[in-house]
Amino acid sequence: MTRHFLVDTDLTPAEQAEVLDLALELKVKPYAEAVYAGEGAARRTVALIFDKTSTRTRVSFAAGVADLGGVPLVIGSGDSQLGHKESITDTARVLERMVATIVWRTYAQSGLEEMAAASRVPVINALSDDYHPCQLLADLLTIREHKGPLAGLTLAYLGDAANNMASSYLLAGSTAGMHVRIAGPEGFLPAESIIAAARLRAAETGGSVLVTTDPSEALTGADVVATDTWVSMGQEDEKAARSELFRTYGVDAAAMALAAADAVVLHCLPAYRGYEISAEVIDGPQSVVWDEAENRLHAQKALMVWLMKSSRAPRTSRKDGE
Ligand code: CP
Ligand code: NVA
Repeated sequence: MTRHFLVDTDLTPAEQAEVLDLALELKVKPYAEAVYAGEGAARRTVALIFDKTSTRTRVSFAAGVADLGGVPLVIGSGDSQLGHKESITDTARVLERMVATIVWRTYAQSGLEEMAAASRVPVINALSDDYHPCQLLADLLTIREHKGPLAGLTLAYLGDAANNMASSYLLAGSTAGMHVRIAGPEGFLPAESIIAAARLRAAETGGSVLVTTDPSEALTGADVVATDTWVSMGQEDEKAARSELFRTYGVDAAAMALAAADAVVLHCLPAYRGYEISAEVIDGPQSVVWDEAENRLHAQKALMVWLMKSSRAPRTSRKDGE
């Protein structure tokens, strides 16, 4: 069976821990795994498709594939036939005969699901409107490095609680056994279905989920404070309204005073100083955002290795009907 990574809960708690363990190993020994090279590898090329702009995701996947002995093929929005001349399914049917893994940053989660349904090589969500699961692997790795074992730690996320990062914090954090607190204004809270899925995971792992409109309720005593832009890709027209709506959900010195004294601060980046986070906080001693950015590389390498090893290796070609 081919394993895909479209949403944080595609990994069980044990599998998530395995990927994070491997990421820590690869951080120390970057070339220890050559999953896309050598005798055992069926394919060398990894397709990296970007329908939205990216710095970290693009570079960390490209560098990571190279480290694993593969060849990254970056396909930008409009560079291929995908989305305008050719369906997602037909694109998947072609790519899966040529590449080892498909990494895709896009808009609708349903597109990723369609790609995965037609692909016998792993498909990885490199950010959709709904989730950013690769970012969360890097975030969890960073928390583990700075705060130790994840289970039992409290993470507070402030800001746009209806966006992809908030949903991924809920799902990945609860999978790790963390106490996840999400604070955002009314109308910008996570979907009930995501809260329910996170609660289900939390029941399994000993974590918990709190969703509130009160930032101080989320922040009080938190071990980790996280935020994200108030204006996600595709929402640029709403910038003025959103900046006003989320004004009281910024991570500044006053917010940090409510968290644990040794709390660390996460931001997936790019950051907008003076909006969702103050310069004093993101550039201050509690910020671990540059480690977090670097950990995209290590976490995604581990993910790619894990998915390749957990999926049946595809043949170079296949007969019709197989
Ligand atoms: N955090 C993140 O995904 O950054 P990019 O948009 O630059 O890839
Ligand atoms: N929520 C942001 C994350 C950027 C990495 C967006 O979707 O634009």
